[in-house]
Amino acid sequence: MTDARSIAIQYAHHNSIRFLDELKEFSSIASISTDQSSKPDIIRAAEWTAKQLRALGINNVQIFPTQGHPIVYGEWLGAGSSAPTALIYGHYDVQPVDPLNLWVTGPFKPDIRGDYIYARGITDMKGQMMVALDAYESISRTGKLPINFRFLFEGEEEIGSPNLVPFMETHKELLQCDFAINPDTGTLSPEIPCITYALRGLAYMEIRVYGPDHDLHSGVFGGAVLNPAQALCEIIAGLHDDQGRVTLPGFYDKVRLIDKEEQGELARLPIGDQYYLNATGAPSLYGEAGFTTIERLGVRPTLEVNGMLSGFTGDGAKTVLPAWAMAKISTRLVPDQQPADVYQQMSDYLERHAPKEIRWSLIPMHGGPASISDRNSVYIKALERALETVWHTQPVYKREGGSVPVVLDFQQILGVETVNTGFSMPDDNMHSPNEKLHLPTWYRGIDSFIHFYFNLAE
Ligand code: BES
Ligand code: MN
Repeated sequence: MTDARSIAIQYAHHNSIRFLDELKEFSSIASISTDQSSKPDIIRAAEWTAKQLRALGINNVQIFPTQGHPIVYGEWLGAGSSAPTALIYGHYDVQPVDPLNLWVTGPFKPDIRGDYIYARGITDMKGQMMVALDAYESISRTGKLPINFRFLFEGEEEIGSPNLVPFMETHKELLQCDFAINPDTGTLSPEIPCITYALRGLAYMEIRVYGPDHDLHSGVFGGAVLNPAQALCEIIAGLHDDQGRVTLPGFYDKVRLIDKEEQGELARLPIGDQYYLNATGAPSLYGEAGFTTIERLGVRPTLEVNGMLSGFTGDGAKTVLPAWAMAKISTRLVPDQQPADVYQQMSDYLERHAPKEIRWSLIPMHGGPASISDRNSVYIKALERALETVWHTQPVYKREGGSVPVVLDFQQILGVETVNTGFSMPDDNMHSPNEKLHLPTWYRGIDSFIHFYFNLAE
């Protein structure tokens, strides 16, 4: 074992405990982007990231303030202009932790139990960010990096990246690269490495329904007016038909269909309904008729209620007829749907179907279209070989149900393809209590990124 790769991998193995300690330190920062009261922790996470980059000898490290949370940038361009330049993307922000009482250990007290480490953001995506950085360190400390790097870490991914597109537009030169690497997608199981070639888009909105101008006694007024909670439930119930199809007018019009070949490939993925039953704990699966679960998650658009609020929900019973009700609704989009069309379709739907006895308003929140990547790029092939070297099995190609809208922005603003990969699992409890990361897979991830960086120069 004397070649540059093996030496770098040995370095990674020798430093595995410290890598884990650094991940723990990073994951103990409560960088929740939705929450204004977490602002100091967001800043701390940005500073921690910048400090980490500087310690790795990365140049021109800067924390760019934005109207929201800061963007951390760094670069190392020492491989010369004949070598390719990768833009490594990541986000240091995490989702909120509620419901807190369901966490076995504190969300920001990383805790190892068996093969897993538990903390908010550990798999989405602080652990994935560290894979990219630890692989970088392993090569830079033992030899010469074979390619150039730029790093772009944002603190607003979980809230729709409102300030990233303006930043990219005004810093195109700084972000100039040949391709991007987004380690914010996952794999299917510890045995199967995975390359994600498509991500769904998102259109997120809030519906508010107003009835009486104040909360009413439900006995004195029940029977006199329509209850806004009931009206909202009727609206929501009407959003799917009995085939599980979304009823928004025109919702499926632009959906790009897949060919037989891709359909066959998806059918061969080593994951099936039993997996989703186990991973969700739901008594049975549900979705659009005529499609497999994998198809419904990857190539079909969906609509979900993320939350609802109305009236009295405290302890005990209070007889009240609420004045208003609201729901947070999101749609997951596939090529070639557009978020703006979906907001319009929802507005048309409400116009037509909302009960006449109430007033409603629709508030579009954030979103972005789906993305689909070129599976035959040399960058994807370099990753494919790297994963195969470490796992001794061919990676599978899959479409992801989740969204990372910036991937499309990389295509449109920077003109580059993105390699989507990562080492999270569908059952890692992303966005829910007891988020976890599978450590053996994480360590393999670091090894495979070392190979990936070397392969990119070949
Ligand atoms: N890392 C996730 C997306 C993801 C999840 C990719 C699972 C692959 C597998 C990302 O941080 C995320 O959660 N994104 C948000 C989108 C955003 C616009 C709020 C999402 O998908 O809900
Ligand atoms: Mn993420």
